Amino acid sequence: MAIKLTINGREFQAEPCDTVLTVAKAAGIYIPTLCHSEAVTDYGACRMCLVEVERRGRKRLVTACLYPVEEGLKVTTDSEKVLRVRRTVIELLLARCPGSAAVKQMAAALGVTESRFSIADENSKSDACVLCGLCTRVCAEVVGTSAISLVNRGTEREVALPFYNEAGDCIACGSCAYICPTGAISLVDSGNKRIISWPQGTVDFAMKACLNCGTHYAPVRQVEFMARKSGLSPSEFDYCPDCRKL
Ligand code: SF4
Ligand code: FES
Repeated sequence: MAIKLTINGREFQAEPCDTVLTVAKAAGIYIPTLCHSEAVTDYGACRMCLVEVERRGRKRLVTACLYPVEEGLKVTTDSEKVLRVRRTVIELLLARCPGSAAVKQMAAALGVTESRFSIADENSKSDACVLCGLCTRVCAEVVGTSAISLVNRGTEREVALPFYNEAGDCIACGSCAYICPTGAISLVDSGNKRIISWPQGTVDFAMKACLNCGTHYAPVRQVEFMARKSGLSPSEFDYCPDCRKL
């Protein structure tokens, strides 16, 4: 049964499985997000999507990406209180990630150009990481390898491979680099190598060469993973996608 709620005074109908964020997005109402992706389950890490909800006369701030819709819910996405709290959240992220263009851009959109909190080293790679956990979730939920994880607590929290500079279960697919919203993970294909740098470690992966044209077309580990998952013989992957069509 459809659920009725209001967002910024406008009435909407939603499905019971919807969150406030999905309804707002579908209606074209902007709520900033850094740790949300439709590809993975929400986790509520960045707090950028805070909105105010009113339920049975009681108001409170909640994360829109995690909050399920309810009959009669009144949501406000742009009150002065919401904007004030979002500015504080982005100031904290700006202090942690002063070199991140994505964070600076989101801060500027909220009118924030400086942080009152202490600033990390602008050149430190780890300081581009907002600890959103998108990389670890895509690795676990979409790729199915859980090769990287968020480790340690408090100010020591970081994204890492189990032994920092060792590949472990990583198949070098690069999903983490593609989904990272701040560029904290880099991926470079260079000849017979794919080099992936996470905030706390860099690993070189061997690339597989096409038996026909010699192009290094995919990481060896990824090809082996695909062969295992599909049940196909590894020899099915001897040729690059272009030569396979010939
Ligand atoms: S490395 Fe990127 S995707 Fe991973 S937690 Fe940090 S900011 Fe998020
Ligand atoms: S998008 Fe909701 S907490 Fe990050």
